[in-house]
Amino acid sequence: MKARVAVLAGDGIGPEVIAEGLRCLHAIAELFGHEFELIPLPFGGAAIDSHADPLPERTLSACRAADAVLLGAVGGPQWAAPQAALRPEEGLLRLRAALGTFANLRPVKVHAALADASTLKAEVVHGVDLLFVRELTGGIYFGDKHRDAHRATDVCSYTAAEIERITRVAGRLAQSRRRRLTSIDKANVLETSRLWREVCTRVVAREFPDLTLEHVLVDAAAMHLIRAPRDFDVLLTENLFGDILTDEAAMLAGSLGLLPSACLGEGRRGIYEPIHGSAPDIAGRGIANPYGTILSVALLLRHSLELGAEAAALEQAVEAALGDGARTSDIAPAGTRALSTREAGEAVISRLQRPG
Ligand code: IPM
Ligand code: MG
Repeated sequence: MKARVAVLAGDGIGPEVIAEGLRCLHAIAELFGHEFELIPLPFGGAAIDSHADPLPERTLSACRAADAVLLGAVGGPQWAAPQAALRPEEGLLRLRAALGTFANLRPVKVHAALADASTLKAEVVHGVDLLFVRELTGGIYFGDKHRDAHRATDVCSYTAAEIERITRVAGRLAQSRRRRLTSIDKANVLETSRLWREVCTRVVAREFPDLTLEHVLVDAAAMHLIRAPRDFDVLLTENLFGDILTDEAAMLAGSLGLLPSACLGEGRRGIYEPIHGSAPDIAGRGIANPYGTILSVALLLRHSLELGAEAAALEQAVEAALGDGARTSDIAPAGTRALSTREAGEAVISRLQRPG
């Protein structure tokens, strides 16, 4: 097949991990006989410097015209002053809103070979396989904002329609998995959460009667996630809670660098990005973990290009590389030699095989 992928490498370690993601895409194209047109585009802090806009018009229109968007990371201390007029993160939020990618899928899987890489006990994290479905274009991220010298506000707002559509995405995914849906809110305090709980309950009762639905308060969920993470299957959250809990959940897998994500809307086009940030502290050193990006490429193949066999082949190659001890410094046991970003990408590509 032919497909067009917009590539927004962004800032910090973004370009380094994206380089390995792209090498994997090339390898898949060669192995399976596809033609992927890759279009690099300015984005984030780098685009503030070059275009005075974190999401230049040209970048947005190319993303709209593409089959999928592959994104690295945005942000850095040079653009983070409290008084800054332009922020890299704003480009990311505008892109999510403009492409209508309201559903953020963040799978958290503990690879068998990595149970010892987590700061938690191996017996707690062993076999964890859960999926966060985070609402991505509403809530406090997108409500009215105000700040003056004495006061600041961020409004959190959700409509019933926004809650319905994200519940449907989570419900369908739960049906394809272990049929357990946990909706996370703060209904003991927040009105948006009370509406969330009401709408979610109604949608699941009417449209997904085969699921077991449970509502858990966000503070309790944060605790339960590290106490007994295997209890969870699909976790449904609003935007801010999902942001926080997915960083926490990444520690089950051993490193933020391992987690991929897919941002999906109504159509097939999506944005695919590792959940980690730009990590300015290690940028430019060639030591960042590229697996989260490579696994995001697998999600891109599966969800936007409908290339399930290719996605599985890439995921199996990552699994095999990890199984053979191919670890970057964030997950390497003390005293062992860690792989560079490039070597980790190479470890995956050399294990890539056509199925059958
Ligand atoms: C994420 C990131 C972003 C978010 C930032 C960079 C705006 O933390 O994708 O989790 O908060 O959504
Ligand atoms: Mg985050």
